[in-house]
Amino acid sequence: MTEALIEPVVFNPYDYHFHEDPYPTYARLRNEAPIYHNDDVGFWALSRYSDVLSAFKDNKRLSSANGVSLDPAAYGPHAHYVMSFLAMDDPRHMRLRQLVSRGFTPRRVAELDSRILELTTAHLTPALATGEFDWISEVAGKLPMDVISELMGVPEPDRAELRRKADLVVHREDGVLDVPPAAVEASISLMNYYKDMIAERRRSPTGDLTSALLDAEIDGDKLSDAEILGFMFLMVVAGNETTTKLLGNALYWGSHNRNEIAAVLRDPDLSAEWVDETLRYDTSSQIVARTTTVDLEYYGTTVPAGEKMLLLIGSANRDPDVFDDADAFRLGRNSANKLASFGAGVHFCLGAHLARLEAKIALAEFARHVRDYEVDEAGIERVHSTNVRGFAALPVKVQVR
Ligand code: HEM
Repeated sequence: MTEALIEPVVFNPYDYHFHEDPYPTYARLRNEAPIYHNDDVGFWALSRYSDVLSAFKDNKRLSSANGVSLDPAAYGPHAHYVMSFLAMDDPRHMRLRQLVSRGFTPRRVAELDSRILELTTAHLTPALATGEFDWISEVAGKLPMDVISELMGVPEPDRAELRRKADLVVHREDGVLDVPPAAVEASISLMNYYKDMIAERRRSPTGDLTSALLDAEIDGDKLSDAEILGFMFLMVVAGNETTTKLLGNALYWGSHNRNEIAAVLRDPDLSAEWVDETLRYDTSSQIVARTTTVDLEYYGTTVPAGEKMLLLIGSANRDPDVFDDADAFRLGRNSANKLASFGAGVHFCLGAHLARLEAKIALAEFARHVRDYEVDEAGIERVHSTNVRGFAALPVKVQVR
């Protein structure tokens, strides 16, 4: 027996080596330590699909109210001000989610279809003309924030600056848990911008999401300005980077699985399959956290109340008990409704449909114009985070049609 098999599995989400390829560690966790405890960092972890999905649905015993990230910096100095229902339990969470859902409707998202295509083309066309470009800085890093701005009704001239600030909000220094001053400054500045926009829409409503949120009402209950601001901020933080990274991961794994995506490059209408397999194979939101509210028993081990529990989404999506040949990137699995990628239960991602739509349109447009492409492996830069998985830079060389 080799030493690797004798040594107990070690899982540390801050470890850069782990970020390079987390999947062998996930496999060992599922097999050898389905309830894992890291006493040094201070967390427990569930890695099997069935446990992760059950935990998502067990909000009474696994609470979101202490935050859903391992990283304390994620909460920042304004966390109490930004009323994020992502980090609330019911009934508070449900009240806000239902009110927001009155404005953020599937119909409103579906209506964005043609605008998403226009925004994609605006970034993709000049990039393709150069033949070689960074997919993240030129396209994937721009589109999600533009779409969120479009939804909220941010005027076009202001969007580039908001995008720059949104990037600063989520940026962290290597290995530093504190929120950098530039991120704090950017958060304040973004909040002031959105605050002014809310006040403006209160005076003169338009047809945008901001006006719809001001209007949303259930039995006389309405959202306060601070609650609307909280939701806007949540979209910027939860919906922006994750979608950028999804687009990056799709191109990266496409280049490593040419036979699989050849069909999409021939028929761009198949791009939804490329999106769904990327979401399964290497999703951009890998880990969310809960806090145990009571003692819980897993595989003969008691996890005491008040402990941090990580739900390993990336591992659940590779569980061979649920996905055949789980470590293979394969289109056409029809597994969209089984994915753990957007969570499950009452906190199921409110932007899942939007993220899918955006990625489907952007990848279809890429495939429509590109005959073949390769990634410049030497120029790749990976983001190091305890949750978000993807690239900060992904240079590509394209052969256009
Ligand atoms: C919640 C993933 C895009 C808005 C979540 C959760 C996950 C997730 C895993 C559940 C968190 C938990 O249970 O603690 C993703 C991924 C995305 C994406 C992988 C892109 C690929 C978006 C977009 C938006 C969005 C585009 C909005 C514009 C939200 C909101 C919640 C949420 C508001 C909180 C829902 C609640 O607490 O009830 N997302 N998300 N997400 N997401 Fe997304």
